[in-house]
Amino acid sequence: MKFFIDTANLDQIKEANDLGVLDGVTTNPSLMAKEGIKGEEAVMKHYEAICDLVDGDVSAEVISTDFKGIVEEGKKLAAIHPHIVVKVPMIKDGVKALKWFSDNGIRTNCTLIFSAGQAILAAKAGATYMSPFIGRIDDSNWDGMELIGQISHIYSVQEYKTQILAASIRSPLHIVKAAELGADVCTCPLDSILGLLKHPLTDIGLAKFLEDAKKMNA
Ligand code: G3P
Repeated sequence: MKFFIDTANLDQIKEANDLGVLDGVTTNPSLMAKEGIKGEEAVMKHYEAICDLVDGDVSAEVISTDFKGIVEEGKKLAAIHPHIVVKVPMIKDGVKALKWFSDNGIRTNCTLIFSAGQAILAAKAGATYMSPFIGRIDDSNWDGMELIGQISHIYSVQEYKTQILAASIRSPLHIVKAAELGADVCTCPLDSILGLLKHPLTDIGLAKFLEDAKKMNA
């Protein structure tokens, strides 16, 4: 399973990249706005800065909602850097645009997936990735992981090539479950990635080893 970081914050991207386990980045308009990035030029420059930091795919989301607008915007985003993957919402014109991008060699990430039916449409339209929003499904009192399992099964039976990108991850356990259920990629906040490190027995064990190591030098 590939590891992407779900942020537009350059320091966090650097920190995750320094760990040596990062395969890419996902952003969305909310994450970009959180960094205070305003205006088309600044947005483009920020995507370029992210692409220069990480040797992997970087999802950049369109904000148009009509076919023509999505295609024009997607072409501009894709031209920024070869790492760019155009993020397209799961709406009717989005599906049409996914097919256009696929036919024209532009890689895509279909976002805002909340059902298996939407996942089938994204695959049929030739999306490179598609992003089920686990945490938001859990928030609405359904089981986000159940959806990952269902999509994983359908994609395997139907031999769809679209990659399952588990998004809206809220905890290290989400990452472990996504891996278990066959997600191809997990995009996570930095805290969830670092959370994978933690185990009290590791800390206790290391403290004991270090204490005993002092005896070797005594
Ligand atoms: O990148 C999209 C997704 O990961 C959003 O996550 O936490 O806003 O539901 P969240």
